Amino acid sequence: MRVLLVYGSSEGQTRKIAAFAADCLRSLGHRVICADAKDALALPHPGEFDAVLIAASVHLGRYQPAVIRFVRQHRAAISARPNAFLSVSLAAAGRESDDIAGLEKCVADFEESSGWTPQLIHHAAGAFRYSAYGFLTRWAMRYIAHRKGAPTDTARDYEMTDWDDVARFAGEFASRRHPLSIRG
Ligand SMILES: Cc1cc2nc3c(=O)[nH]c(=O)nc-3n(C[C@H](O)[C@H](O)[C@H](O)COP(=O)(O)O)c2cc1C
Repeated sequence: MRVLLVYGSSEGQTRKIAAFAADCLRSLGHRVICADAKDALALPHPGEFDAVLIAASVHLGRYQPAVIRFVRQHRAAISARPNAFLSVSLAAAGRESDDIAGLEKCVADFEESSGWTPQLIHHAAGAFRYSAYGFLTRWAMRYIAHRKGAPTDTARDYEMTDWDDVARFAGEFASRRHPLSIRG
C-alpha cells in the first residue's frame, strides 16, 4: 500500500524515528512518502494514499503546530483511510502514572485542536539531545533528567527510543488495512 508519513520534529529525534518507521514499512513491501509538516507547500494530499501515519513530539505538553495545521486541514481524508498517530516524548520512557496521565492529556488536547481521532496511537520514547539545546533549555532538561534518573552528562546526547518497539508498531500499523476502532 501507499503510505503517507507526515512528521513534526523540533530537535530531530522524531525525524529519525519517522525515517526508521518508513524503512520498516518499506521492508514490508509498502511504498512510503515521509515528509516534514514544516514543508507545507510540498506536502502531498492524504487522499492520494492508502494509509496515513502522523508523527509529532511533545514540547511543554504540545505537539508541533505545523502537524496540527496539516491534520486539521486534511482530517476528513486522513480519517477516511487507515491512520495512526506516533507520539514521541520523554514521558513515554517513564513508567509512573503521572507520565501516562500527562501523555493522555497531550493526546486529548491534540485530538481537540486537530479535530482528528487516530485509529491507533503509539507512544515512543524520544531523546535527550543536549547538543541541540540552547543554554537555558539544556539546564532545564538536565534538571528534569536528574529528577527522573536519566543521563545528565550534557556533553553528549541520549536516545531513549526503543527501536524494536517502533518496528513492532510499524508492523502493526501495516497489518491494519481497514478502518479500526482499536487504540493501543
Ligand atoms: C523544551 C522541551 C520541552 C519538552 N517538553 C516535554 C513534555 O512536556 N513532555 C515530554 O514527555 N517530553 C518533553 N520534551 C522531550 C521531547 O519530547 C523529546 O526530547 C523528543 O525526543 C523531542 O523530539 P524531537 O527531537 O523530534 O523534537 C521536551 C523537550 C524539550 C527540549
